[in-house]
Amino acid sequence: MTGSIRPRRLRRTESLRRMVRETRLTPDDLIYPLFAVPGEGVRNEVVSMPGVYQLSVDQIVKECTEVRGLGIPAVILFGIPTEKDATGSGAWAEDGIIQQAVRAVKAAEPDLTVITDVCLCEYTDHGHCGVIEDGDVANDATVDLLVKEALSHARAGADMVAPSDMMDGRVAAIRAGLDGNGFDHLPVMSYSTKFASAYYGPFRDAAESVPQFGDRRSYQMDPANAREAVRETMLDLEEGADIVMVKPALAYLDVLAALREISDVPLAAYNVSGEYAMVKAAARAGWIDGERVMMETLLSMRRAGADLILTYHAKEAARLLA
Ligand code: PBG
Ligand code: ZN
Repeated sequence: MTGSIRPRRLRRTESLRRMVRETRLTPDDLIYPLFAVPGEGVRNEVVSMPGVYQLSVDQIVKECTEVRGLGIPAVILFGIPTEKDATGSGAWAEDGIIQQAVRAVKAAEPDLTVITDVCLCEYTDHGHCGVIEDGDVANDATVDLLVKEALSHARAGADMVAPSDMMDGRVAAIRAGLDGNGFDHLPVMSYSTKFASAYYGPFRDAAESVPQFGDRRSYQMDPANAREAVRETMLDLEEGADIVMVKPALAYLDVLAALREISDVPLAAYNVSGEYAMVKAAARAGWIDGERVMMETLLSMRRAGADLILTYHAKEAARLLA
């Protein structure tokens, strides 16, 4: 071969490889999801998500101390209430499960950024992300409730709210609600591009939020649509989103890359429950090297353009990065 161009020259030693590495993953990039349940001393492992637990508030606090110690800057909290009803009223109860969890975590770990997932599906008895009218989720009635939920999280001390419902106009409504109530400093991380995905299966076990009828296709996005993802993202940015998100991540890296091209705002990727479960299952079977696949997967999201990654692997990854 002609000798002048040989890319392997820069792959020869670990030191050279480090010098020319284009993408890095650090604990700063990670957000760790946690599931809060009522009770005390509760640690229920989620069957389809080994290493992930439903935790009572006291255990959430312990977990947050560990998370901070590992250098992970943020957690996102999901709440599973004792009582569910048609409107999901537990979502904005002043002494609801999330409100209690936020207060406890902020009291114990004031420097940890506490993000709350704003949606109704964990709180409705039918498991949909909003209120039902004529057999479908009613958009504007749901948005009013999401604003109440976001405000209640803010009052409990949340540092950021993350609407995951996919109702039209919810970012603008939540932004206005926050601004009008003394929370104009509180950022909104929008689940701006959330696809109707089978990858959420294990999460719905964890959050006990399986829809009791139908599916979420009338509000979450069609997995076939990348141009629409750009449109949804632009809309959420116009409505005041501070951070936008692609969810799931692994099967949608093209969408992440496209959004990176068109926008300079911080971009988050949600490495969802099904992606986590696949890695854990194959690793358990001895079919893949779980740690290496995990790091390669997280790196792929950074390479595609994600600044932040919400991942159940956060603690393991941070340990390996230490
Ligand atoms: C609630 C919500 C879901 C996830 C995050 N927020 C589930 C859903 O829409 O069914 C999924 C996260 C995961 O799968 O890890 N709307
Ligand atoms: Zn939901």
